[in-house]
Amino acid sequence: MKPWIVGNWKMNGSRKMVREYVPAFLDGLLESGELAARVHVALCPPFPYLGEMSSLLTSYPVRVGAQNVNQHENGYYTGEVSASMLSELGVTLCIVGHSERRHGHGESNALIGEKVKILLAGGIAPLVCIGETQAERDADDHQRVVEAQLESALQDLPAGAASEILIGYEPVWAIGTGVNATPEQAEEMHGHIRGWLTGRFGSGDGATIPILYGGSVTPENARALMSRPEVNGALVGGSSLKPEMLVSLLQQSLS
Ligand code: PGA
Repeated sequence: MKPWIVGNWKMNGSRKMVREYVPAFLDGLLESGELAARVHVALCPPFPYLGEMSSLLTSYPVRVGAQNVNQHENGYYTGEVSASMLSELGVTLCIVGHSERRHGHGESNALIGEKVKILLAGGIAPLVCIGETQAERDADDHQRVVEAQLESALQDLPAGAASEILIGYEPVWAIGTGVNATPEQAEEMHGHIRGWLTGRFGSGDGATIPILYGGSVTPENARALMSRPEVNGALVGGSSLKPEMLVSLLQQSLS
């Protein structure tokens, strides 16, 4: 499966950063020969920068992603952004269910399921984040927690939807902490998730949904994580904020 590298800027950056970052990143990506052809790449800046980033990336093999969406089409939802608005800005992928939204903004499994559906209806690929807390892992509950998150995010999907979805396994204890899951831990959980996906979507679609690992991925550990057969990509926060670091991470991932 062609791997995915998705950069999640979170609430970082500026217009100046977008304008400097994109050309530098493209230089690094495109000068590394066939690198760009061997990987799917997406950058997810904050909402205000999506339009400009899309313009700068037109005709380059890098997708623009959003970090959140509202579950409704339009209406009385002050401060929110809809899937059709994202589409107009050139967004083709959207992170949903990030733990910073589950835990920081009280997003429930059911709400995340609604967001997945509105994105699919709008032709935007949902990157559905799941993952357990440290306490849940300590209680040996991590597999059950992740299954429950998958169950509600992916229920009652329209036919064919599975081919549009990506999964991001991000253990909460690994996000922004510098403590990544070991390649063995990632492999074990990704295998478990794959088993769930093939059980739900069959051995065809279920086997092709990319499962990305996220949580303190760096240029130093990317190779060990990405060399695991069950790890189909990386969702990268802090290490995506400098273009040369993300290029180096890409090179390591594919080496
Ligand atoms: P991190 O963030 O790479 O900074 O740990 C990952 C994420 O939250 O997507």
